[in-house]
Amino acid sequence: MATLFLHSDTLSIFFIIFVSLVLLSLRQPSEAASCTTPPVIFNFGDSNSDTGGLVAGLGYPVGFPNGRLFFRRSTGRLSDGRLLIDFLCQSLNTSLLRPYLDSLGGTRFQNGANFAIVGSATLPKNVPFSLSIQLMQFSHFKSRSLELASSSNSLKGMYISEDGFKNALYMIDIGQNDISHSFAKGNSYSQTVKLIPQIVSEIQSGIKRLYDEGGRRFWIHNTGPLGCLPQKLSMVTSKDLDQHGCLASYNSAAKLFNQRLDHMCEELRSQLKDATIIYVDIYTIKYSLIANSNEYGFGRPLMACCGYGGTPYNYNMNITCGHRGSNVCDKGSRFVSWDGIHYTETANAIVAMKVLSMQYSNPSNPFHFFCRR
Ligand SMILES: *[C@@H]1O[C@H](CO)[C@@H](O)[C@H](O)[C@H]1NC(C)=O
Ligand SMILES: *[C@@H]1O[C@H](CO)[C@@H](O)[C@H](O)[C@H]1NC(C)=O
Repeated sequence: MATLFLHSDTLSIFFIIFVSLVLLSLRQPSEAASCTTPPVIFNFGDSNSDTGGLVAGLGYPVGFPNGRLFFRRSTGRLSDGRLLIDFLCQSLNTSLLRPYLDSLGGTRFQNGANFAIVGSATLPKNVPFSLSIQLMQFSHFKSRSLELASSSNSLKGMYISEDGFKNALYMIDIGQNDISHSFAKGNSYSQTVKLIPQIVSEIQSGIKRLYDEGGRRFWIHNTGPLGCLPQKLSMVTSKDLDQHGCLASYNSAAKLFNQRLDHMCEELRSQLKDATIIYVDIYTIKYSLIANSNEYGFGRPLMACCGYGGTPYNYNMNITCGHRGSNVCDKGSRFVSWDGIHYTETANAIVAMKVLSMQYSNPSNPFHFFCRR
C-alpha cells in the first residue's frame, strides 16, 4: 500500500491539514449559534443515513472496524465514522439523531428521531422498513409523543410538542436501493428506468403525508452515483465504463431518477404553497469526489478501504467488511469508499461541507433555515 501513494506524499500532508480543518469546523460549528429555536429533525431513508436503526431493530450485527475512526466502536453506522446526517446535526450543535427503534435510548428524542434503516427502499410498500413503513412509524411516534406530553406536566418538556413537529425539518434520502435492487434482480436498464415514476411517486406521497401531519419544511437528498460503487463495479460482468471508470448505465438511471425527483419537488412547491421544499444535489457532490479524487487526496476512488479481493475494487460479496477474512486499509482518509457501498467519514465530511455551502441546494436555503426565526 505504501508504494501506491508514495508520489503524492506532499499532497497528502496538505490534504490531511485540509481534512482536519473540515472536521474541526464541523465539530465546533460557528454556525451553531444561528439556531434560535431548538432544532428538531426527522429523517427517513436507507443506509446512507441509518445511525443504528438496523442493529436496534433486528439485532443484525454490524461489527468493527465500522466506527473505528470516530466512535471507536461500531454504532450500527456503515462507515468508519460519521455519516452526512451526523455532520449536518453537528453543524447545528444538536446531538446526533437517535434511531427511532433504539429502545435503550431512553427518552432522548427531544431533537427528533431517525427512521432510516439499512436496505430500505420505497417499493415494495408496506414491508419493513420501506418508506411507507417509516412514515407509519413516524405517525405513531408523533401521536404517542403528544399523548405522553399531555398526560403529565412533569413529562411535558421531555417530548416534542405540536409546535416542535410543525417547525421540524423532515429529511428524506431514499431511492438508491430501488434502483440497485432492480439491477440486482437482472432487470435491464430500460426495465429499471420504467420503475422511476413509481419510486418518485412514493416519495411524493411521503412528503404529502408529512405535510398533512403538519410538517412544512422538507430537505430532500437526491441519489448518488450508483455506478461508481466498488460493489457494483465488481459484480457487473459487462462493463460500460465512463471516463472515470464508473458504470455509465447505473449512473444514467440514477440521474434520470434525480431529474424526476427534482421535477416532483418543483410540482409540490406549487401545490403546497406554505411549505419549503429543498432539493439537494448529492449526485454532483459525490461524483466530483470521484472525478477530482486527486484534489482531495483519494488515491483509489473506486476501491473499498474495507473488503476483500484487493485491486481494483477490493469487494467480494461473500467476504464483506467486518466479516471473517476481510481486510481493512490503514488510512480511510485516502478512500472515498469505506466498504464498497458506503462512504468513509472523510468523504462524508467533504460531502457535508458542500451540502452546507448551499451551492447544491434548490432553493438555496442554509441548512439551519428551519430553526431560525
Ligand atoms: C453547543 O451545545 C453545548 C451543549 O448543549 C452548549 O454547552 C454550547 O454552548 C453550544 N454552543 C453553541 C455555539 O451554541
Ligand atoms: C460467493 O459464493 C458463492 C457460493 O459459494 C460462489 O458461487 C460465488 O462465486 C462467490 N462469489 C465470489 C465473488 O467469490
